[in-house]
Amino acid sequence: MASSCSTKTDLAYQRCINPTCGHTLSVDQAAFACPECGDLLDVVYDWDRVEVPRRLSDFEAKWSDRLNPLSFSGVWRFRELLPFAPPDQVVTIGEGQTLLQVADKVGQYVGMDAGRLMLQYEGMNPSGSFKDNGMTAAFTHARMVGAKRVACASTGNTSAALSVFCSATSFGFKAIIFIGSGKIAYGKLAQALDHGALTIQIVGDFDDAMHRVRQVADRLGIYLMNSVNPFRLEGQKTIMYRVLEALAWQPPDWIVVPGGNLGNSSAFGKAFIELKHLGLIDRVPRLAVINATGAQTLDQLVNANGVTWNNGLPDAEVTQAYYDHLDAEHLKASTIASAIEINRPVNLKKCLRALDFCDGLVRQVSDQEIMDAKARVGAGGIGCEPASAASVAGAKRLREEGIIAPSDRVVCILTAHQLKDPTATVAYHGTDQENFEKILGSRGVRRAGFANRPISVANDLDDIIRTIALYSEPNA
Ligand code: F0G
Repeated sequence: MASSCSTKTDLAYQRCINPTCGHTLSVDQAAFACPECGDLLDVVYDWDRVEVPRRLSDFEAKWSDRLNPLSFSGVWRFRELLPFAPPDQVVTIGEGQTLLQVADKVGQYVGMDAGRLMLQYEGMNPSGSFKDNGMTAAFTHARMVGAKRVACASTGNTSAALSVFCSATSFGFKAIIFIGSGKIAYGKLAQALDHGALTIQIVGDFDDAMHRVRQVADRLGIYLMNSVNPFRLEGQKTIMYRVLEALAWQPPDWIVVPGGNLGNSSAFGKAFIELKHLGLIDRVPRLAVINATGAQTLDQLVNANGVTWNNGLPDAEVTQAYYDHLDAEHLKASTIASAIEINRPVNLKKCLRALDFCDGLVRQVSDQEIMDAKARVGAGGIGCEPASAASVAGAKRLREEGIIAPSDRVVCILTAHQLKDPTATVAYHGTDQENFEKILGSRGVRRAGFANRPISVANDLDDIIRTIALYSEPNA
């Protein structure tokens, strides 16, 4: 295994999150689960020995160093906060050039005062989703341990990011992706195919694919790129650093994020735990994690069954009983937000830790709420895929419940780009009723309240001019 010579790697190690186990591994090992008890691993730092900037604003010095790829990257310009890798091992493709934008039109829809709703648009990443933040860190680790074959199960965005990183870099990485057949939006499948991934479609859904890829990775010694890989989450912490950066280092009141495999929420929690520990923030935002109704495991466990972090020992029996119930009833995840169509979130425990630290809460929103919110996000100028809009639908719900106040500063994470899933968008806005029924009606979406219908006109100049006169009032 590579690069034990670096001083940087000495600052970090891996540790099992189960406090009754606490097994540790060096960062030069690739494990993906605790070899002792099978629980999740964390990357842990010896902060007393890390040279961390005294104030978050000290990171602004990196802005004038943009010719250095590490300072250009929206992940690695915060490298002192994820110091597990020697700088010369970093694998970066310029990820993390993303945007926090005040979105007043969307804010109005959610019920917020002007200037209070912000969208963190991770669709601007090279592969079009937040996954690139995690991939740059995990690929760096893969390079450190000398891995060549890298694999994931995916609802589409992880596999797209994996494929891009393999094809855009020259370290000999080969992408192997597992997807549930028919379970992946076309934009994402197109990416995997175009970027040359070995694409294995199995009969089943994401949970089935996840189960298989773990077996295969274990059996063949392939490096696993799903978010059970703790290095992925180190990269995804930086989404929160960029949010703080865009807010002049003042924490907002709320972070609202869709929940699928629960990697993001887990990473955000870890980011805030560490920033608080380091004295770099004095106030922690509240975290809202939003499930889709058709994939509501977290909501069910937390809200209906009272499962909590419980100092690292969440009630495993309750969780198992819930999964047994899913199996007995043959309940499979099902939502138009295919990215979060997941019933067995691998990062459940870490997410519970994040909820505990960030005074968090969980909600579920219907496919109707998701598609309506997505249309409002689009009308507000930023395109996102259905799963991303769950954050906005969730914020609206929490506003209606009076939990979020209109004057709160709320950041909704838009996890991926609109073009990832054109099928859902066209079904919502289009005039083809049969298509609407097939794609959305069958999932309980009854109306496309914010549809922007295309208008069919004869190929006739007068007709076209008449139509434009009828429909082209400028926006208010
Ligand atoms: N939003 C999008 C667009 C996603 O692709 C995902 C996850 C999530 C939200 C949920 O994030 O897992 O961190 O809770 N997509 C994974 C994939 C599962 O395979 O692309 P999470």
